[in-house]
Amino acid sequence: MPISKGFVDQEYLQLVAQTVARYKQSSYNYMRLQNGDTVLDVGCGPGTDTIPMAQIVGRGGHVFGIDYDEEMVAKAVAAAEQAGVNTFVEHKKGDAFSLPFESNCFDACRSERLFQHLSDPGKAFAEILRVTKIDGWVVVLDTDWSTLSIDTAEVDLEQRFKNFRIAQFHQNGYSGRQLYRLFKQQNLSEISVEIYPIFVTNPTLARQIAVLDEVEQNALSKGIISEAELNRWQMVFKSDATFFGSLNLVQVSGRKA
Ligand SMILES: C[S@@+](CC[C@H](N)C(=O)[O-])C[C@H]1O[C@@H](n2cnc3c(N)ncnc32)[C@H](O)[C@@H]1O
Repeated sequence: MPISKGFVDQEYLQLVAQTVARYKQSSYNYMRLQNGDTVLDVGCGPGTDTIPMAQIVGRGGHVFGIDYDEEMVAKAVAAAEQAGVNTFVEHKKGDAFSLPFESNCFDACRSERLFQHLSDPGKAFAEILRVTKIDGWVVVLDTDWSTLSIDTAEVDLEQRFKNFRIAQFHQNGYSGRQLYRLFKQQNLSEISVEIYPIFVTNPTLARQIAVLDEVEQNALSKGIISEAELNRWQMVFKSDATFFGSLNLVQVSGRKA
């Protein structure tokens, strides 16, 4: 069983948001947001995307954010107030498997890095489609954790860590690569795919993004690696000048037929 079920704190999400800022912007373009639109972000976290989208749809529009973590919702509500957009940006506690909205009510819906935490992404996707208007746009972004790559001579250890991380930290660590299939199976039209590469040359940042402190301690306590192997593996993060790691984020967009 995964040891983490999608709980990540606000600081972690802000750090990743800075790293993927231009991809978030691109996802809003794929939603074809217009002034006056009513839009939804599923698994919205602390409002990282709802508030920028509010600037695009304006006061004549409406932005909703749903997250099942009460703390995230409270932070998103506070962020909307602080940004002065709380009259038309609403955050609610809710489950992606059972969205608290009527069918066919949103011009566009998005979800980012949520599906990797879901046991049944197909069910959540069907819910997103249900609440999207006919001809409305759906944009889903997720990580394909199998693309995590770190420049090291310890290739065997790298693979073991990666596989362990995928199994322990995510319900569905391969979600990025599955999105195209979900869109095709549900017959969306005008489907397009973007692969957004993330690369990091700062080893401390790479460790934070991949939550490596926690992964390593768990791998050690479960006997996946030995102390000696851990020491060898950690050497790669000491080479500040030459460190290189990369990971792919997959975005699929399409239109509800
Ligand atoms: C990795 S975070 C991404 C947050 C945000 N989309 C972003 O890009 O910063 C995943 C979020 O999904 C939420 N989440 C996980 N499972 C959920 C579910 N079944 N329904 C609604 N939200 C969920 C978590 O609480 C967390 O805030």
